Amino acid sequence: MKKITFGTPEPLTPSRFCDGFHYKETDVAFDVSQITFRRTRGGVLLESPAGRDTHFYGCGLQFWEFDHAGHKLTLRCNADPRTPGGDTHAPVPFFVTDKGYGMYLDTARYAELYFGAQKPGDSFEPDENYVVKVSTDDLYAARMADENTFVSIFIPNCEGVDVYLMEGDTITDIVSQYNMLAGGGPEVPEWGLGVLYRCNGRYSDEQILDVARYMRRNDIPCDIIGVEPGWQTHAYACTYVWNPEKFPDPTGFVARLKEMGMHVNLWEHAYVYPACPIYDDLKPLSGDYTTFRGLVPDFSLPEARDIFADFQKNLTALGVDGFKADECDGSDNTGGWSFPNHAQFPGGLDGEQYHNLLGTLYAKTMWQALDFQPTLSEIRAIGALAAPYPFVLYSDLYDLRGFLRALVNSGFSGLLWAPELRGVGSKKELLRRLQTVVFSPQCLINAWSCPEIPWLAFDCVAEVRALLEERHRLIPRLKAAFDRYQKTGVPPVRALVMDHTDDPETYGIDDEYMLGDDLLVAPIVSFTEDKREVYLPAGEWTDYWTGEPVPAGRFAVETENIPVYVKK
Ligand code: GAL
Repeated sequence: MKKITFGTPEPLTPSRFCDGFHYKETDVAFDVSQITFRRTRGGVLLESPAGRDTHFYGCGLQFWEFDHAGHKLTLRCNADPRTPGGDTHAPVPFFVTDKGYGMYLDTARYAELYFGAQKPGDSFEPDENYVVKVSTDDLYAARMADENTFVSIFIPNCEGVDVYLMEGDTITDIVSQYNMLAGGGPEVPEWGLGVLYRCNGRYSDEQILDVARYMRRNDIPCDIIGVEPGWQTHAYACTYVWNPEKFPDPTGFVARLKEMGMHVNLWEHAYVYPACPIYDDLKPLSGDYTTFRGLVPDFSLPEARDIFADFQKNLTALGVDGFKADECDGSDNTGGWSFPNHAQFPGGLDGEQYHNLLGTLYAKTMWQALDFQPTLSEIRAIGALAAPYPFVLYSDLYDLRGFLRALVNSGFSGLLWAPELRGVGSKKELLRRLQTVVFSPQCLINAWSCPEIPWLAFDCVAEVRALLEERHRLIPRLKAAFDRYQKTGVPPVRALVMDHTDDPETYGIDDEYMLGDDLLVAPIVSFTEDKREVYLPAGEWTDYWTGEPVPAGRFAVETENIPVYVKK
């Protein structure tokens, strides 16, 4: 790995806030003199030759595309993106290629990465034999045209950047180095890998306890109960104070869940309501704009983190051992809400930088509130160098195909992502969603807006129980995968191209993934058909469900179950 400094980097970048940051220089074969740098109006520009057949992956939790070759992304934190372009809950300025290298740009700016910018070249000759093309694929193939194609990176509002160049035989090797640069994956307790059921946001303590009793009475595995906004006296913005009407005895409520063997995860977000007891202390340590009429604390400041985390210890002292840290992404897509890019924060960050850093700094603060005890909590935004945080990303507004693509992409960027089960239209949809949920890093049933437990509307308790029992059987495998993530940086979820970078068949596969060391998962996302095509790379495989050997290669499957294969 090699760090190359271009111009004068900013003082406040992701590495500055990453406690486990650890850079050790080694030789690289990549000729770094090929990378050009210049200051431009409004920022800096870095360019590196791309080559026409290079594939590019990463850049955070992307929902709409997989291989970025020929595409332009602007890495901006924003919830619920509806088109490709780079907006995401988790923008990460790190990309990897199938050509043995990856680059991490240590910036919180809205960097624009164009993986196929073209310039006029000397060698360009008109094609005498051109046949008129009509399909979009054929026409757009000109995006990666020739040797004059570049990775062109524009970083606004700064005068320089540190770039970390990493090399490896496989994308997994390169991604592991990126994750180890941040300190490696988190320590995750076994219970965190169990079933998380989030109750309806309107429920009182007794209604939530009823859900917990239902789970135990019906032998439905459930390890964590999630409590949604209704537990607070005011939730948008937050007081972090129990609502005395709905939750008159928080100590007894948490204790009763614990007696049933359940862990407790509380919803909140970072925006502080005037009635919150720490409002006055945080006001001078917050930005100059509000969100949901609440203060936006500047978590880049240790004082702000201490005040916020200490107050949350009123909750952890009761036995709360996880949080759902919501709304830290902001959204231009659901009405447009958040602080502006020109906002100013007392620690020196502006709104642009804080959008891309808030999720990570909020995770840092909440982990401090949890006294750094092992947990698997949730957060709706995170950014660069986030591997060490025991927080899984989530969000409601995607279909199963989007959930799956994000899951496959998450492993390129040091991120964890939870597809979820929520309100559904049919039994088939419920089971298809739940199958993918079971074979993912966090088993999340997000019933926050469901009038009742989602499967009660359909006749399928036995199927749900069987799937959640399967999740429990997976825990040792998942735990081993997380231990490996912690020690080596190899993420628990990996696109097939990560381990099989020498196999071009894998370059476009964004609907299958490796889970842990040896499982290949190929979910069926249709709610009307039970079929899909599966590709197994070279190797010896067996069917996870039957133990029968399955030859490598491409084949069709038809099953009501989720196709899963075990690699020898
Ligand atoms: C959303 C979040 C949901 C739910 C809801 C409660 O922003 O994504 O899962 O928690 O807030 O208001």
